[in-house]
Amino acid sequence: MALRNIVEIGDPILRKQCRPVGEVTDRTRMILDDMVETMRNAMGVGLAAPQVGIMRRIFVAEPEEGRVMYMVDPEIITMEGEQESEEGCLSVPGKSGTVIRPEKVTIKAKDRDGKEQTYELEGFDAVVVCHEFDHLEGVLYVDKAEDVHDIEG
Ligand code: NI
Repeated sequence: MALRNIVEIGDPILRKQCRPVGEVTDRTRMILDDMVETMRNAMGVGLAAPQVGIMRRIFVAEPEEGRVMYMVDPEIITMEGEQESEEGCLSVPGKSGTVIRPEKVTIKAKDRDGKEQTYELEGFDAVVVCHEFDHLEGVLYVDKAEDVHDIEG
């Protein structure tokens, strides 16, 4: 495994739409594993492929230590309710802001083995998945938050 460089806001890479992966191959798994390592190294809870310069529909998330979700070609099937979340992003260092997210989401994606899975997520899991999914569309949380501010300390 290897650490990848994290692209920061201002780079046009973060504003592009990502292309589907299709079949999950050994190369896909290598990217997924590198992304998990890079996310953990940066103390993040999620990381999307464009953040490491890969324009594919892939993200990883670890909303709780040791519980990693691998999402390849994810599709959000349903969204329900609303919640306010305080978010940051590894591509927007030192900042934080409040975003309105769905309380519950159903998301379908291929996992690390290429197997189609459906997840019903709520609370923080739903926040993380929606934030990462937005990256695949070239959307950053700062586009949705009205109060982006410097993190104190
Ligand atoms: Ni982000």
